[in-house]
Amino acid sequence: MKIRIVSLVAAVLFAGAAFAADAPAAPVTLQAKNGNVTFNHKTHAAVKCETCHATAAGGKIEGFGKDKAHALCVECHKKEAKGPAKCAECHKKA
Ligand code: HEC
Ligand code: HEC
Ligand code: HEC
Repeated sequence: MKIRIVSLVAAVLFAGAAFAADAPAAPVTLQAKNGNVTFNHKTHAAVKCETCHATAAGGKIEGFGKDKAHALCVECHKKEAKGPAKCAECHKKA
């Protein structure tokens, strides 16, 4: 029984690791009233999935909105002095 549980956990971890390689190739558009924000997974390949997502599988981010997005995106760009930190560099009117 113990062995079965261990191998099941290993299988789940392995599946997670395999899926983690598949960040979307196409940019994601985040809708915002003051101009939509384009997020590119390719330019963030050095950042771990779990920095932004609950799991390495990615997907929709629960409760993503202004506060969460700015705390995540803008703070890292400021800290690393890389990537856009000015409003209009992220929010682009169509
Ligand atoms: C710097 C932050 C960040 C990192 C790192 C990141 N993502 Fe994402 N990802 C996002 C955002 C933002 C979205 C859009 C979320 C939403 O719409 O709720 C997203 C969306 C996704 C989606 C759904 C795509 C769609 O079209 O709806 C998948 C799948 C995904 N990410 C997988 C990954 C995987 C796998 C990794 C790691 C290899 C990863 N992401 C790393 C920010 C990130
Ligand atoms: C952990 C750090 C980190 C986080 C979190 C992060 N970024 Fe970045 N971002 C970077 C770095 C570093 C660059 C510069 C990459 C380069 O120029 O090679 C960058 C570049 C960018 C660029 C310009 C390049 C491009 O893809 O067009 C945009 C736009 C951007 N980030 C949007 C976002 C958004 C939106 C989020 C939140 C969903 C986010 N970033 C979260 C580190 C981060
Ligand atoms: C690094 C990119 C980035 C920068 C810089 C940035 N934002 Fe945002 N902002 C976002 C993201 C991502 C969202 C969340 C979009 C979503 O809900 O999915 C957002 C959401 C918002 C919203 C909520 C929009 C809505 O429809 O609910 C407002 C308002 C806003 N930002 C204003 C600003 C202002 C003002 C500045 C400059 C002081 C700024 N942002 C700088 C990425 C950025």
